[in-house]
Amino acid sequence: MSKAPSLRLDRLLSNLGYGSRREVQQLIWAGLVTLDGDVIDDSDEKIAVTRDLSARMKVDGEALDPPPGLALMMNKPLGVTCSHKELGPLVYALLPERWRRREPAISTVGRLDKDTSGLLLMTDDGALLHKIISPRSNVSKRYDVTLDRPLRGDEVKLFAAGTLMLEGEDKPLLPAPMEVLSERRALVTITEGRYHQVRRMFAAVGNHVTALHRDRIGGLALPDDLKPGEYRLLNDADLGNVLEARV
Ligand code: URA
Repeated sequence: MSKAPSLRLDRLLSNLGYGSRREVQQLIWAGLVTLDGDVIDDSDEKIAVTRDLSARMKVDGEALDPPPGLALMMNKPLGVTCSHKELGPLVYALLPERWRRREPAISTVGRLDKDTSGLLLMTDDGALLHKIISPRSNVSKRYDVTLDRPLRGDEVKLFAAGTLMLEGEDKPLLPAPMEVLSERRALVTITEGRYHQVRRMFAAVGNHVTALHRDRIGGLALPDDLKPGEYRLLNDADLGNVLEARV
């Protein structure tokens, strides 16, 4: 996580989506912002943006939203899109309304298809995002795959070989370990993030994915009690687990 800077109180609140610079100044001058229980009525006051700020600062009696450097995991439901631009239900609509006005904005760390569910990371920390998606970090992603037809038997060997070529591409896929759960279900672990990769891997062996669910990124597993559409902030231990190279 990048080092926390100091920000003027009005800029901090405005960047967190509490309103325009003018609007947050009104909040501050009205005595509605406190730090460690003391009112701060100077909108120019420099605030060290530390991770524990939400526990120390209150706005109108409520804990401050997570300061910049936010990272979270979501259990992405089916039918929502990982995009700021497309029409239709977006993953961002599952976050509190104010969080959608934050600057820097919260983005997804990579994407899951509209028809894929499961573990999705989101952050406003560009350096962290790039670290997780960089091929050099070798962060693995595990998918629980349900298939239309029974496995034919050679998929484990084929995916592990590092020679599988997807249609329209000229570079083979890196080895992808696969654990067979039943004749139509398997866990597949990939370290790349090619477009529709898992669906296309099974298309390459004459099958069709009917359900796709990501249950793990690096060493971070989707918690059983995180229901579809719910999210949870990540702590340093979670981020350490994400970046732990597993493959
Ligand atoms: N592979 C896919 O085909 N879809 C996803 O959403 C993720 C991996």
